[in-house]
Amino acid sequence: MKKILLSLVAAFTMLQVRADEGMWLPQLIGKNYDEMVRMGLKLSKEDLYNINQSSMKDAIVQFGGGCTGEMISTSGLLITNHHCGYGNIAALSTVENNYLDNGFWAYSHDQELPAKDLSVIFLQNIEDVTAEINAATRKLKGEKLAKKMEEVKKKIEKRAEKDGKFVASVKEYFNGNQYLLLTYKKYTDVRLVGTPPKSMGKFGGDTDNWMWPRHTADFSMFRVYAGKDNEPAEYSKDNVPYQPKWHLPISIKGVNEGDYAMIFGYPGRTNRYEVSYGVDMAINEVNPAIVKIRDKRLAIMKAHMDKDKAVYLKLTSQYAGIANYWKYFIGQTEQLKRLHVVEEKAKKEAEFTKWAAKNAPEYKKLMTEYAKIYSGYAPYAKHAIYFSECFKAPVLAKFGAGVEKLQKELEKKNPNADTIKKHIDDLKKMRKSGIKLYDKGTEQEMIAQTLKMFYNDIPKSQHPDLYQAVIFKKYSSDNMDKGFNDYAAYVIDNNFFLDSNKFNDFCKDPSIEKLEKDAAVQYAMSFVRNYKEYYEPKVDEFNKTKKELSKQYVKGLMDMNKGKLFYPDANSTMRITYGKVGGYTPQDAVHFDYFTTLDGYVAKYKPNDDEFDSPKELLDLYAKKDYGQYVDKDGTLHTCFITNNDITGGNSGSPIINANGEWIGIAFDGNWEAMSGDIAFDKTYKRTICTDARFILFIIEKMGKAHNLIEEMDIRK
Ligand code: ARG
Repeated sequence: MKKILLSLVAAFTMLQVRADEGMWLPQLIGKNYDEMVRMGLKLSKEDLYNINQSSMKDAIVQFGGGCTGEMISTSGLLITNHHCGYGNIAALSTVENNYLDNGFWAYSHDQELPAKDLSVIFLQNIEDVTAEINAATRKLKGEKLAKKMEEVKKKIEKRAEKDGKFVASVKEYFNGNQYLLLTYKKYTDVRLVGTPPKSMGKFGGDTDNWMWPRHTADFSMFRVYAGKDNEPAEYSKDNVPYQPKWHLPISIKGVNEGDYAMIFGYPGRTNRYEVSYGVDMAINEVNPAIVKIRDKRLAIMKAHMDKDKAVYLKLTSQYAGIANYWKYFIGQTEQLKRLHVVEEKAKKEAEFTKWAAKNAPEYKKLMTEYAKIYSGYAPYAKHAIYFSECFKAPVLAKFGAGVEKLQKELEKKNPNADTIKKHIDDLKKMRKSGIKLYDKGTEQEMIAQTLKMFYNDIPKSQHPDLYQAVIFKKYSSDNMDKGFNDYAAYVIDNNFFLDSNKFNDFCKDPSIEKLEKDAAVQYAMSFVRNYKEYYEPKVDEFNKTKKELSKQYVKGLMDMNKGKLFYPDANSTMRITYGKVGGYTPQDAVHFDYFTTLDGYVAKYKPNDDEFDSPKELLDLYAKKDYGQYVDKDGTLHTCFITNNDITGGNSGSPIINANGEWIGIAFDGNWEAMSGDIAFDKTYKRTICTDARFILFIIEKMGKAHNLIEEMDIRK
């Protein structure tokens, strides 16, 4: 282990890096610094990251757990993507006051809208705890190792949290070859400040999603509030705007091809060290299954959302998330094939094995091991996907499965009252968030259709007993559609979850009899028991072994490539990527420019369309070419642009920062031709899609008339 860390450090100092690829660790960015300067950066190392003084990293937050946001004023003004604020905007909207459809602008602090259950975290410190973890887990294996690992991580985190002053998390890097402790401050009073109407913030919808050229105004604005001491505080009307240690000034000077561009953010997950066997399984088994199930789920949801605006507001955020990754997996499969990723990986693996045979016999059999676990897992892979994507789609499947621990406790001879209370509390929490997504019509169809899909697509030998023992006993299997539908109605009518009185009665006096009698519990637990008994052990075993192998593989690759600079897979921690603004050639004879304009936006406009409609004000401003100070030197209003930065999901909302440390736009997507990027970075095709700062400010000023916000920002002309 020590050896690997030393060689890592050596690697950072020895090699020059390729500009575009890499999600670099902020605390080690000094190693990339010379390269960044050569590419145009005009700031000092310490401006980017400094643990003793304020630096750029202090302007960056993880937003709501899954996105990035950044500070753009001295008073806690935050900007992120529209698709990141989407759920909060929808939750704040009603059919009468529909901010999602109409947009929203706060003209003073007291008009800002507190967003429920939204928080942001600011990174305070990063510490390498590899030695401590290794010392505590040395020589352990299997279950014992996993248990001990959790224990040490918790202990370290608890120590760093200093009685609730910080939030801490120990994360794995380089597939388990390194552990870092990250400490954050978490702010929970966050308020909506502004958003364009959905037609602009989500312009292009699922049709344009994951694609360039793009015209989306994918931004929304919030404000972080703090106690009078600037420290985190629960929501209170006495809270004051948070004063960040760093905020990003905004450049409206324009963006040109070849300009330096860097991104700070919280990329969620990549799997760049995945082996050919895994890619093959993704292409042929996993991805097609996910896409097929989501096709159905989306069609069911859409039909019900289109019928009723209230249902729309209830389900739209969940729908967008499902649709986003539905298209993601379609694109990933297509590009993995087109770019021959299986073959490319297999070639590298063969080289690795050849190298190992000569130089490092401990890795000689690694690829054979991989092949073995993947073929052993193949018969169960589909069941695992169907269990999580298909069975768990209905609200009542989640509710019914949520009683598992409680049921176990109640089945004991002497159930423990405290344990029961804890499980009841968990159940209440689960219901509270889950019930927000319940719509009767959608639910009935979802239960019926997912039951049917599971029935048809998963081998009979793997079915839970529910089908024969309950459904087809009660309802004829001659007309299966009717049978599933009637059964779904029966589940909906005979459970204690949906009605709050019934639910509270159960919570007051839970019993095993009540659970066994409940139709939703029966339905869900039949699937859960079946899965836990026969499939989960295989899935767990596969994942555990795969994890061990990949730890060795990454270590092996580092041994093989001494002196080469490695970056760890994304893991929802802060990273920096740097590169340039620039277009690309998606296919033979086609060139894509690096920017789009409002002309292109209006050319896509389709009145009353779900995805390409436009507010009248925008069309009027376009007709008058009233772009104010945001007009480009070419006379148009630029809408979006692309860079070759290395980002992934979770980077959504990240700032694009120019050579002078100024904000020039916001990252919101990746491009179709590089959808395989989370598994294999492609230097030719990979692009980051950004909304231009000038388009955003134009919307705030000319459409939102929020001059208060324009004045608040630090604009560089
Ligand atoms: N593909 C984008 C991402 O994952 C999200 C785009 C949201 N827009 C949409 N039309 N679904 O970062």
